[in-house]
Amino acid sequence: MQIKFYQEEEQVPLEMHKVRVVQKLFLRPIEERLQCIKEAGNNTFLLQNKDVFMDMITDSGVNAMSDNQVAAMSIADDSYAGSETCNRLIKAIEEVFGTKYFLPAHQGRACENILAETFVKPGQFTLMNFHFTTTKAHITRMGGSVIELVRPEGLEPNSTEPFKGNFDIPRMKQIIKELGAKNIAFVRIEAGTNLIGGQPVSLENMLEVAQICKENGIMSILDASLLQDNLYFMKTREAMCKDMSIKDIMHKLGEVMDIIYFSARKLSFARGGAIISNNENYILKMKEFIPLYEGFLTYGGMEVRSMEAMAVGLRETLDIEYICQGPQFIQYLVNELDKYGIPVVKPAGGLGAHIDARAILPHIPQSQYPAAALATALYIASGVRGMERGTLSEQRNPDGSERYADMELVRLAMPRRVFTLSQVKYCADRVKWLYDNRELIGGLKWEDEPKVLRFFFGRLQPIGDWQEKLAAKFREDFGESL
Ligand code: F0G
Repeated sequence: MQIKFYQEEEQVPLEMHKVRVVQKLFLRPIEERLQCIKEAGNNTFLLQNKDVFMDMITDSGVNAMSDNQVAAMSIADDSYAGSETCNRLIKAIEEVFGTKYFLPAHQGRACENILAETFVKPGQFTLMNFHFTTTKAHITRMGGSVIELVRPEGLEPNSTEPFKGNFDIPRMKQIIKELGAKNIAFVRIEAGTNLIGGQPVSLENMLEVAQICKENGIMSILDASLLQDNLYFMKTREAMCKDMSIKDIMHKLGEVMDIIYFSARKLSFARGGAIISNNENYILKMKEFIPLYEGFLTYGGMEVRSMEAMAVGLRETLDIEYICQGPQFIQYLVNELDKYGIPVVKPAGGLGAHIDARAILPHIPQSQYPAAALATALYIASGVRGMERGTLSEQRNPDGSERYADMELVRLAMPRRVFTLSQVKYCADRVKWLYDNRELIGGLKWEDEPKVLRFFFGRLQPIGDWQEKLAAKFREDFGESL
């Protein structure tokens, strides 16, 4: 899967596809970028795409589809009920995961809404390796709470541990004993642990967690949204998976997990969401919410064309030459940043590169959102749009006090097959310039703070005029260059 170059010094990832449709990008001059980030309330979510050069805010719904996915979209069977498209998708899911039952939803968080609504009662706990923003919001909305059980090294930015998303098994057993199984709504295993740097969970750990759930009569739920990269890491880092095919691994997960759900904006490079299971009882409990919140049972809010792309994309997940691209390009970016001495989450995981803002900006307290400040600085310096994954992405405690995040990261997601190697190099180069000028970067404060999922649309202001100073230094160093 890693193609070897003849000249030792030229080991770089190789694209295993060719580009046949392109979209023009715009790199605005830095003075305009400064203006754009101000207009966006210093929130990269509020930037307009026309003002963004490399959009690395997410890999969700923005991966390049394959020719076969696009072709499949043209044969979609557009009907409200009983479409052939839905039957084709069910067949693909069965083939890939080996599971019998399927409920459609418009995207991943819609699955979470239904899971929380069906299974979480007020006062109950949910256990997971780590929370995801939308997951936690749905669980707390139902009066439940989240206990995180990731092993301590998962929260260490610099590590050589290959599966930093793994559950702390002894702690899990202890917590179950303390809380009692009946007070636990479910255990959620998040593949490719998003908020701690896209770090994978080993198959061995997943199987152990599922087994403990079984022994204690607790439901196990796999969030497979980031499973694709996780599969690559299982195949390349885990002895147990060496002689298993990708399909064997997926079938094993389909067999041991009570429920699997995923965002098809990530897994399958399409758009939509799915809840799948071999347990008819669980499916029946959730079923009535689909027509209520999503749409009829054969589309659940998804566009049929997306469902066709999803069916093909799921099958393509079995092809290591497809799924190696994300991790290898992410590894390249992480290596470049590391080579430049920039603190970055290691080892490289899936999803994207994660820059350690707290290590870069020790002069900015967490109350001034160092990761968000760094994300605005990076946009100003490069036109690259990253995402804050730190305190700003947290919810405040019930008493209104700030909940400081364990890690302050700027995520540079890697939409698959979208950027070329020279674009990735440009990104690393601009981060390096920023790193060399890090003392110029200052903090942010709220101008308008929403109550729920504030990171999506909250507006902030820089504390002082550091952004102007940063732009002036850029001009000094880069002359006329964009
Ligand atoms: N679970 C995980 C692990 C995710 O990463 C996401 C989305 C979801 C659930 C929700 O799925 O967006 O389809 O509603 N992550 C995106 C991201 C938003 O950019 O990391 P969704």
